[in-house]
Amino acid sequence: MSQPLIGHLDPDFIALLDRLKDGLRTLFGTSNAMTLPLSATGSAGMEAALFNLLERGDPIVVGVNGVFGVRMAEVARRAGAEVTTVEATWGTRLSDSQMSDAIARVRPKVVSFVHAETSTGVCQPVEGIVSAAKEVDAMVVLDCVTSLAGRPVKLDEWGIDAAYSGSQKCLSCPPGLSPVSFSDRAIELVQSRKSPVQSWFLDLSLLAGYFSGAKRVYHHTAPITAIFGLAAGVDRALEEGLEARFERHSQAARHLIEGLEPLGFKPLVDAADRLPMLTSVRLPDRINGTGEAAVRTRLLSEFGIEVGAGLGPLTGQIWRIGLMGENARTETVDYLLDALRKILH
Ligand SMILES: Cc1ncc(COP(=O)(O)O)c(C=O)c1O
Repeated sequence: MSQPLIGHLDPDFIALLDRLKDGLRTLFGTSNAMTLPLSATGSAGMEAALFNLLERGDPIVVGVNGVFGVRMAEVARRAGAEVTTVEATWGTRLSDSQMSDAIARVRPKVVSFVHAETSTGVCQPVEGIVSAAKEVDAMVVLDCVTSLAGRPVKLDEWGIDAAYSGSQKCLSCPPGLSPVSFSDRAIELVQSRKSPVQSWFLDLSLLAGYFSGAKRVYHHTAPITAIFGLAAGVDRALEEGLEARFERHSQAARHLIEGLEPLGFKPLVDAADRLPMLTSVRLPDRINGTGEAAVRTRLLSEFGIEVGAGLGPLTGQIWRIGLMGENARTETVDYLLDALRKILH
C-alpha cells in the first residue's frame, strides 16, 4: 500500500484488478464473471446486493438472528421492498423449517441471510434455506463478510445469486473495500428491471463498464491504494492455501475455548454452530454485567488487545473474540489468555 500511485485506467492497474477478481472468485467458490471489489465497506456490498435485486413492492424474506440480519431487513425496507423477517434467538441459528414456511407462504423475489453472524458467533447452514428459495425461484443473497477466507464459501455449489464480504475480516486488510459476486441469473434480473437502481454508485450495470469488458470506462475513481492492499491480502490467503487457512482458524478457536473454560467463560453458541473466527462467550459471574467493561479496558490499555462487547440483547453478557486472518494463531490466543489470567487474578 506504500507503492506510488498509478492511474485507475493504467493498463498495469487494470491487470492487477483482473488478477484480484480471479483471486476473489477462488475465495467465493464461483466462476461468476461479475465478481469485483466494491469501493466501500461491507455495508455497501449489502446495499449493492439488495438495491440491485429489489424494486419497490418486491417481497423479500430476511433471516434475522443478530445485528447484521437486522441491518439487511432495514436496507431492504429502504429499497422499498415488502419485508418479511424470520427471527431466531441471538446466539442460535435460523431454523430451516421456519425459513422454508415463510418462503413457501410469501413466495419472495429474494431470500437473504447472514452466513457468519459477527454479533453472536453463529455460523448459518446454507443448503436448507437455498433449496426452499429455489422451490419458489427466489434469488438468494448471502452475507459473507466474516466467513470469506476463514471458512469454506461455495457460492456456485450452494446456488447463491449474490454475496458480499469485507476486506477487514479474514483477509486481514484495512477496511474500505467490499468483495462482491453476482451470478449470471442475478445480472439478467438487474438488466430486466423496470425502474433504475436507486443508487447510481452501486448500480451493477454501470459498474460493469469499469470492472469488466474489453474497454474499461470511467464510472468512479477506483481506490488504487486500497486495491493494492486487498490484492496482497488475497494473494497471501491463496499462497497459504484455503484448506490450511480454514484449519488454522479452527485450531485457534479450539485453543481459545479450551483456555477460556477454566477461567469461567462459557461458549454462547452450540458447538455445531460455532464460527471459528468469532468466538462469543458468556462471562464469569464476577465480571458479568457492569464489571466486564473494566476488564476489556485493561486488556486494551495494558496489553493492546481489543475484545468485542456483546451487542443488542447480549450487551454486558458476552464477549466477542475475533481470531481473523493473520490473528487466527494459537500464539495470539496464548497472549490473550495470559493477559486475562493476570487481570482476573
Ligand atoms: C456479518 C457482517 N455483515 C455486514 C457488516 C458490515 O460491514 P462494514 O462494517 O464493513 O460496513 C459486518 C461488519 O462487521 C458484518 O460483520
